[in-house]
Amino acid sequence: MVNLSSFSSIHFLFYSLVISLSSSVICGGIEKDHEALLKIKSLITRDPYGALTSWNDSLHLCDWSHLYCGKRHRRVTYINLSSQGLEGSLYPHVGNLSFLRTLFLGNNSFQGAIPQEVGHLYRLRQLYLYQNKFKEVIPTNLSGCFNLEEIGLSNNELVGSIPKEISSLTKLTFLSLFNNKLIGGIPNILGNITSLELFSVRGNPLGGSFPNILSQWKNLREFYARGCNLTGTIPHEIGHLSRLTVLSLAINKFCGVIPTNISGCSNLEELYLSDNELVGSIPKEISTLTKLTVLSLFNNKLTGGIPTILGNITSLELFSVAGNPLGGTIPDTLGLMKSLKEIYFGGCNLYGTIPNSLYNLSLLANISLSDNQLTGGLYSAIGAMLPNLVFFFFQLWVNQLSGPLPASISNCTSLELLELGKNNYGLLIISYKDNLPSSIGNLVGLNTLSLCGNQFTGNIPSSIGNLQNLEGICLDENQLSGQIPDSIGNLPSLITLNLSSNMLEGVIPSNLGNCHHLLTLYLNE
Ligand SMILES: *[C@@H]1O[C@H](CO)[C@@H](O)[C@H](O)[C@H]1NC(C)=O
Ligand SMILES: *[C@@H]1O[C@H](CO)[C@@H](O)[C@H](O)[C@H]1NC(C)=O
Ligand SMILES: *[C@@H]1O[C@H](CO)[C@@H](O)[C@H](O)[C@H]1NC(C)=O
Ligand SMILES: *[C@@H]1O[C@H](CO)[C@@H](O)[C@H](O)[C@H]1NC(C)=O
Ligand SMILES: *[C@@H]1O[C@H](CO)[C@@H](O)[C@H](O)[C@H]1NC(C)=O
Ligand SMILES: *[C@@H]1O[C@H](CO)[C@@H](O)[C@H](O)[C@H]1NC(C)=O
Ligand SMILES: *[C@@H]1O[C@H](CO)[C@@H](O)[C@H](O)[C@H]1NC(C)=O
Ligand SMILES: *[C@@H]1O[C@H](CO)[C@@H](O)[C@H](O)[C@H]1NC(C)=O
Ligand SMILES: *[C@@H]1O[C@H](CO)[C@@H](O)[C@H](O)[C@H]1NC(C)=O
Ligand SMILES: *[C@@H]1O[C@H](CO)[C@@H](O)[C@H](O)[C@H]1NC(C)=O
Ligand SMILES: *[C@@H]1O[C@H](CO)[C@@H](O)[C@H](O)[C@H]1NC(C)=O
Ligand SMILES: *[C@@H]1O[C@H](CO)[C@@H](O)[C@H](O)[C@H]1NC(C)=O
Repeated sequence: MVNLSSFSSIHFLFYSLVISLSSSVICGGIEKDHEALLKIKSLITRDPYGALTSWNDSLHLCDWSHLYCGKRHRRVTYINLSSQGLEGSLYPHVGNLSFLRTLFLGNNSFQGAIPQEVGHLYRLRQLYLYQNKFKEVIPTNLSGCFNLEEIGLSNNELVGSIPKEISSLTKLTFLSLFNNKLIGGIPNILGNITSLELFSVRGNPLGGSFPNILSQWKNLREFYARGCNLTGTIPHEIGHLSRLTVLSLAINKFCGVIPTNISGCSNLEELYLSDNELVGSIPKEISTLTKLTVLSLFNNKLTGGIPTILGNITSLELFSVAGNPLGGTIPDTLGLMKSLKEIYFGGCNLYGTIPNSLYNLSLLANISLSDNQLTGGLYSAIGAMLPNLVFFFFQLWVNQLSGPLPASISNCTSLELLELGKNNYGLLIISYKDNLPSSIGNLVGLNTLSLCGNQFTGNIPSSIGNLQNLEGICLDENQLSGQIPDSIGNLPSLITLNLSSNMLEGVIPSNLGNCHHLLTLYLNE
């Protein structure tokens, strides 16, 4: 016969044993967390929003704000104190929060060092300490956090080099170190992090050459190394990064050519190579990058013209080659790039006319063709065809465009800057003729109207008084005649009015005194 009551009591005994055992485990662990959190709080010298007020013994630790505990172990797994205006430093006891998976302390004013003890947090997956005032070096012991997937340390004052030790973090996908003071180059050993998807070191004076990581970073999608003082050439192997969507190497000292093999980066959407010392021609192979939206090559030493075949990149939205001695003409195929919003071709030694196909780009907002040797005129239907223009500047000191200013320009109602004048160098080779169209008064968004050094004749249209946002009018060095329209006195924002060197006559409108912001007034002969 079974003694039911003794069975039950054994059963009961067994369970109480399990419960007391496990609660002592929980208790020991949570005490460690408790102590660590209070230590962390003790080094916070400013807490303007009371983010840590609830971190006291009137509540169970798991009910404190800005953190969560795991359901099973009741240990702290998640802390998010981002953007709480906290000041202070980070206590080494943070390394005792051994169940922590997520630590967000971004956008505060933590200072001092990132403690080496962080390296004890082997369960940590996300470490975001960006936008603080952390100084000193990146702890080498971070390599102990072998589950780390994301590291965000940008916008601090970290010094020293990128620790080679982090190359053992084989789960890392996101490494963001931008805007610090890191030196010592980009270590080749980082190539071991084959899981990496985003790498950003921009704005660090790293120096050195392009790292030898290209055969390993197969998963890389975004690479940012703008302004890193990098030298040498851009390696041909760049084409191995077939998943890359953003490559930003602007403002460095790269020399040599743009590798033709860049066409291997078939997913590339944004390519920034501006402000380097690149030579040779723009590789035709770029035309196969059919997802490209940004092609920014300005301020290099590229020659050989703008390849016609680039018209194949129909996805392109921004095309900048300004400041390269390219030569040649503006290819007609530009008209195929239907997504173009911004064209910057200033200072490229371009000659010939502006191809009519350009007027087919109905999304165009900003165009600069300044400092070239372009000839011909503006297409008379410009306004109907480019309705979205915001900036339109020719600054034509070397350009030699001529003919009337098309009245249809008044249909570009978004226009904020209209600059068709000569530049400061004083070369007067452009000649826009005929009257200023009175429809110019429809350009109500205009803040700068710069048409100096042309051959405009007739009166200044009084409709100019409709342009309530105008801050600058430069109509000097034309052949304008008649009186200055009274309506100019209606322009509340006007700062500069330059009408000198025309054939204007009569009196200065008395209501100019209403232009309260007027600082510069030129009316001399
Ligand atoms: C402790 O936390 C509770 C809950 O947030 C809060 O109401 C209380 O003011 C805190 N006590 C102290 C001394 O900060
Ligand atoms: C962390 O907290 C900030 C500020 O309260 C919030 O904006 C952000 O979404 C939080 N981040 C996450 C990942 O929960
Ligand atoms: C940074 O934190 C402050 C509060 O301290 C907040 O007002 C600001 O919006 C935050 N900035 C960002 C970029 O999150
Ligand atoms: C907590 O961290 C400190 C500093 O790293 C260490 O000295 C201490 O032994 C740790 N305490 C526990 C309970 O692990
Ligand atoms: C850093 O890591 C080394 C090697 O693992 C270890 O000996 C040392 O104690 C760690 N330092 C701290 C402060 O945890
Ligand atoms: C990098 O990877 C190679 C090959 O897997 C390995 O031999 C080397 O130890 C790794 N280096 C580091 C620092 O992890
Ligand atoms: C860039 O690197 C050169 C050496 O290549 C060094 O002389 C120079 O100081 C560095 N510039 C900056 C801004 O770090
Ligand atoms: C050029 O890129 C292709 C992949 O598109 C690659 O197979 C080839 O090895 C690369 N050449 C060099 C010199 O890296
Ligand atoms: C350019 O695009 C046209 C039409 O899509 C295509 O036939 C041609 O092969 C492309 N040229 C190159 C060099 O990719
Ligand atoms: C402008 O586009 C239209 C329709 O797509 C086309 O027929 C015309 O030839 C294009 N004009 C120029 C100058 O490319
Ligand atoms: C045009 O240029 C201005 C000034 O650089 C910029 O703010 C604006 O975003 C540009 N517009 C478009 C549509 O790209
Ligand atoms: C402005 O555009 C409309 C419609 O496209 C057109 O009818 C009108 O003539 C244009 N105005 C000028 C001055 O070209």
